[in-house]
Amino acid sequence: MARVILGVSAGIAAYKSASLLRLLREAGHRVRVIPTADALRFVGEPTWAALSGEPVATDVWTAVDEVAHVRLGQSADLVIVAPATADLLARAAAGMSGDLLTATLLTARCPVVLAPAMHTEMWEHPATTANVALLRQRGALVIDPASGRLTGADTGPGRLPEPEELFAVVQALLARLMPAAASLAGRRVVISAGGTREELDPVRFLGNWSTGKQGYALARSAALRGAEVTVVAANVELPDPAGARVVRVVSARDMHAAMLAEAGIADAVVMTAAVADFRPVARSDSKIKKDGSQPDPIVLTENPDILHDLAGRRARGGRQGQVVVGFAAETDPDPQAAQAKLARKGCDLLVVNPVGNGRGFGSADNEAIVYSREGSQTPIPRGSKEALAEVVWDLVAARLQ
Ligand code: CTP
Repeated sequence: MARVILGVSAGIAAYKSASLLRLLREAGHRVRVIPTADALRFVGEPTWAALSGEPVATDVWTAVDEVAHVRLGQSADLVIVAPATADLLARAAAGMSGDLLTATLLTARCPVVLAPAMHTEMWEHPATTANVALLRQRGALVIDPASGRLTGADTGPGRLPEPEELFAVVQALLARLMPAAASLAGRRVVISAGGTREELDPVRFLGNWSTGKQGYALARSAALRGAEVTVVAANVELPDPAGARVVRVVSARDMHAAMLAEAGIADAVVMTAAVADFRPVARSDSKIKKDGSQPDPIVLTENPDILHDLAGRRARGGRQGQVVVGFAAETDPDPQAAQAKLARKGCDLLVVNPVGNGRGFGSADNEAIVYSREGSQTPIPRGSKEALAEVVWDLVAARLQ
């Protein structure tokens, strides 16, 4: 996770930056948006605040006690301005600092990426050419605009590159900058996600509320860190995570078979799935009907414990150095019980997160304490599921080294 500042100046392409912001957030980065005052004519403050989850200001007179005009630039890992207008480039080149964005550009010591977008005439004007040359000479990465349709009927160089392109540039820079970003390069990881379903008859099942969001966040984040990722997904209705192979299963026994098969050569295995501990002894081939008498009780039998079996196989001489991680959603988390569960399962790390009362399942946020086999505890404060995924991978990467 990096701290990224997304500067937005007053060009119509500002709307594309909303997509860039989403991509950055989905990758787990903390993004602070700093629009210029006129940029808000194109995309309003509520959009930036809602998509970033951070306050938005354009001038240096907001939150003066926090000295935002200095602190934001100082603490950023990367600044990207998209779109950067001719006016913004001119002010940045001249070292002006009249608003929060230009002040931040002066205080930032991290890489600065500028993505100009403007009409071809403005881009080709000698003043803009000179400003861009000066900014490049001072170390900024100025991305040449794409050619194509501009506002109105014009075409030519001046278009803001697509959000996915800008996102790729940011990710590549961060990977170089922050070794954590490439900490799983060449590793194979297998992640279970979602919730298993145990069939009663062709139309009914015993299931749980797990949506797969945390598992998918782990998958995306591992892929961005360079890992080869397989997700064993039980009944997940989310789009496939970028960069991961998805194996679909339904029941706990399906998942048991798939996980043991996939985990054989994995460097790390993470069980985020909510696995049914029990399944009905019998599955009716036809729909169970009510016939006026008392319903039959549902007789259950125990499912295999997948995490236990994965850790057991590793202990019996499975893949050397494999890291096995469990998750435990608890309504009443308790450190002693957590450590006992970790020992019972035989895993290296157990991520214990509170659920119930709107926490956990289905929500965008999560919080947890990660217990280790050696007895350490790493608290992860309330934040996005992507942010939690980053901490888990940091701990896994440290064990793999
Ligand atoms: N798990 C598993 N197979 C099962 C049950 C759970 O692999 N049959 C995994 C989960 O994916 C999770 C971890 O074990 O990573 C802990 O799940 P949890 O339901 O908390 O464990 P249980 O052993 O079922 O403990 P409890 O009695 O508290 O439900």
